[in-house]
Amino acid sequence: MADSSEDGPRREREWVDPPERFAEAANVTAADREAFERAGWPGCWERAAEMLAWDDPYDAVYDDAGTVRWFPGGRLNAAYNCVDRHVEAGRGEEVAIRWEGKLDETRTHTYRELAEEVNAFAAALRELGVGEGDVVTLYLPMLPELPIAMLACARIGAPHSVVFAGFSADALATRLDGADSGFLVTADGYYRRGTALDLKRRADNACASVDHAVEQVVVNRLGDERPAGDGRAYADLVADHEGAAVEPASRDATDLLFLIYTSGTTGEPTLVRHTTGGYLAHVAWTSHAVLDLGPDDTHWCSADVGWITGHSYAVYGPLALGATTVLYEGTPDHPETDRIWRIIERNDVDVFYTAPASIRAFMKWGEEHPERHDLSSLRLLGSVGEPIDETAWHWYRDHVGDGECPVVDTWWQTETGGIVLSTLPGVDRMRPGAVGKSLPGIEAAVVGPGGERLPAGESGRLVLTRPWPGMARSLCEASDWGARRTRTVDGEWRYDTGDNAVRDEDGYLHLLGRADDVLTLSGRRLSTTEIESTIVGVEGVAEAAVVVGSDDARRESEIHAFVSPEANVAGDGALRERVRAAVAETIGTVAVPDVVTFAPSLPKTRSGKVVRRYLAAIANGEDLGDTSALRNPEVVGELESLLDR
Ligand code: WT7
Repeated sequence: MADSSEDGPRREREWVDPPERFAEAANVTAADREAFERAGWPGCWERAAEMLAWDDPYDAVYDDAGTVRWFPGGRLNAAYNCVDRHVEAGRGEEVAIRWEGKLDETRTHTYRELAEEVNAFAAALRELGVGEGDVVTLYLPMLPELPIAMLACARIGAPHSVVFAGFSADALATRLDGADSGFLVTADGYYRRGTALDLKRRADNACASVDHAVEQVVVNRLGDERPAGDGRAYADLVADHEGAAVEPASRDATDLLFLIYTSGTTGEPTLVRHTTGGYLAHVAWTSHAVLDLGPDDTHWCSADVGWITGHSYAVYGPLALGATTVLYEGTPDHPETDRIWRIIERNDVDVFYTAPASIRAFMKWGEEHPERHDLSSLRLLGSVGEPIDETAWHWYRDHVGDGECPVVDTWWQTETGGIVLSTLPGVDRMRPGAVGKSLPGIEAAVVGPGGERLPAGESGRLVLTRPWPGMARSLCEASDWGARRTRTVDGEWRYDTGDNAVRDEDGYLHLLGRADDVLTLSGRRLSTTEIESTIVGVEGVAEAAVVVGSDDARRESEIHAFVSPEANVAGDGALRERVRAAVAETIGTVAVPDVVTFAPSLPKTRSGKVVRRYLAAIANGEDLGDTSALRNPEVVGELESLLDR
């Protein structure tokens, strides 16, 4: 029951208790939480490792002789853990993947079918010459072949590098080069809003522009014709290896499971590497403890598998637990704005995990859509990617969760591998607008500029003060500590998350956004520098700055570009289109600004630095406050009147 006190701001005061019915059946009870905490750090993480099947037991939960290692000495295979062991346990006929494509187009894979296709494709990859340790790039839309290819790579010990299918040829080429990857699995195309889009041409252009040879495999999504261009047909390879049994490669716990790119603070795409044992234990445990998943559940994480959220909570977490995972190829409003609710209803989804940007879109489309569908299968709702405000939180709980489902806000990053801050849904009280405390086994602090711990109510940088199993490998390495923002302060291990936060008087953390030049939007992290330098590369553009804005009327986060044209160049529709086309070409449609506002100049400090904070305030229709520190304060007023709406 919600209990809002009269006094004080609501965001500081409101508590929502987990519903009793949920708490009684939850995976993690108060006693479990206590036992986990009593075990102490790092020993408590043994509980997570126990959820996996190990070929060789680990010698220790954790060690740190300059390089952090989780479960050293342990050996395991991630595909065996996500597939075979469930078949061996007699659960081969249970559904692993439920896929939805165009309207009424569905596919399901049982665990047995998944095992067969993973084995066949693993055998095919080996025949193509993929060896243990070779990086395989997967540039695939949301098709079952994507998790199948990931698991086939994991089976033979070849780290995968998934590149979001919305990225351009240039972005793919950068990532093929950076990972030195000589193998690419792609598709002829995919459907978006009922329209077939080409992917193969982009893949071919990317391969043509990298220095090394790239062997391609092509999934046929669009039709019966064999796709044109280079590469072997996926279906032929799988058919040729039907019935193959590929022994799962026994991998060291610290061996790489995959690579993934994220936007670093320097603006360049940064390679993040995840380990087999620590990562898998972390996502299995958090899927169990936070998302409350079990083998009988159907889970839908709506994030694209191209992002870390999809890796951890659409693929590895739910499959490690033997649950059913839902994949959807299309957009939430096609053919109608109730598509999401249809999918939940048709698949009896138990746990739904999505981003606040999507929730705000659902709000805009109206509560009549979820209300027209039977969503009674839902037991738990999750949110990830950006702060969820109280209004959206309540709307989500009331209109999707029928006022009954707990809502877990989950904070994490590509670098953390899995959830690190949240509430345990059967144990902890929820506070709308706050993410919660750190999970058991995780230690977080809010610190000031000198690294000093700040008291409740003071905002500062969110840091994690102890390692955790899902941490990216670069954070484990002492030599990288300086570069990777992991450092010791007076002997204390610290990871600077790059986010600002404030702790309330009850110890709950409220996230305040990123402190660096990275945009966070619907679970994607885009580099402001990368987008800005692309825009500045357009002929006629002098300067550009991008921020995340939201339009109150539309309730959606959007990328907002402020562009100042060169003297004598008109900021007109044609230039706006050239700006958008350049971003689509260089980075991909995901990064295309929704709003392009032309301005004679941008707000700058006296030292000439563009102050994005004011631009963000303008883009969000917020109060600007004191602008006297600017060299050109008059420009902000001008910008407000120029907004491209
Ligand atoms: C950044 C990480 C987490 C996987 C998807 C994005 C922001 C993430 C929350 C949340 C407030 C959040 C942070 C973080 N973020 N979850 N629950 N509340 N902010 O992964 O691309 O690595 O982005 O997303 O700013 O640093 P990512």
